[in-house]
Amino acid sequence: MKFFVDTADIAEIKDLAATGLLDGVTTNPSLVAASGKNFLKLIEEVCHVVKGPVSAEVAATDYATMLKEGQKLAKIAKNVAVKVPLTPDGLKVCKALSDNGTMVNVTLCFSAAQAILAAKAGAAFISPFVGRLDDVGQDGMVLIRDIVQIYKAYPAFKTEVLVASVRHPIHLVEAAKMGAHVATIPPKVIRQLYSHPLTDKGLAAFVADWQKTGQTILDAA
Ligand code: G3P
Repeated sequence: MKFFVDTADIAEIKDLAATGLLDGVTTNPSLVAASGKNFLKLIEEVCHVVKGPVSAEVAATDYATMLKEGQKLAKIAKNVAVKVPLTPDGLKVCKALSDNGTMVNVTLCFSAAQAILAAKAGAAFISPFVGRLDDVGQDGMVLIRDIVQIYKAYPAFKTEVLVASVRHPIHLVEAAKMGAHVATIPPKVIRQLYSHPLTDKGLAAFVADWQKTGQTILDAA
């Protein structure tokens, strides 16, 4: 399973890239606004730090302007994945860019029917938003199970399921059990993945017991 980080905070991206566990980055207009950075320069910088796919979202909603924006974003670096909304115009842009070899991430997916359309439009990634479905009382993980099942039934679909709007570690574990290809995870949730109180307690006991031996590994003959 691939891990992307869902942030436009370059310091967080550098920090997480250093772990060696980061396979890509996703941004969206809200995250870019929160960063306060120039969008194109930010994407260029992120593409240097992380070699995997870096999602950069178009701002327009009409076909012609989205296509031009997508082409401009794709020129920033080879690893840019142009992010388009799941609308009729967005999927037309997806098809045009994908046919020319550009990776496209189709975002704002809330149904399996939408995910089928994105796969037929040649999307590299489909982004179902699990947390936002949970927020309105619909189980977001049911959508992931449905999309994974449908895509598996059609090997011609090359679209990867990119679980988005991840709010906690359980979303990630459930997505992994279902065989989702990718999860894009906020930095805070990535850090939560490491934690378990029994790890902390066990480590404290080992450190204390080791001190009782009076030995040091590096000084040992
Ligand atoms: O990047 C898209 C998605 O991950 C947004 O998540 O928490 O704003 O629903 P959230």
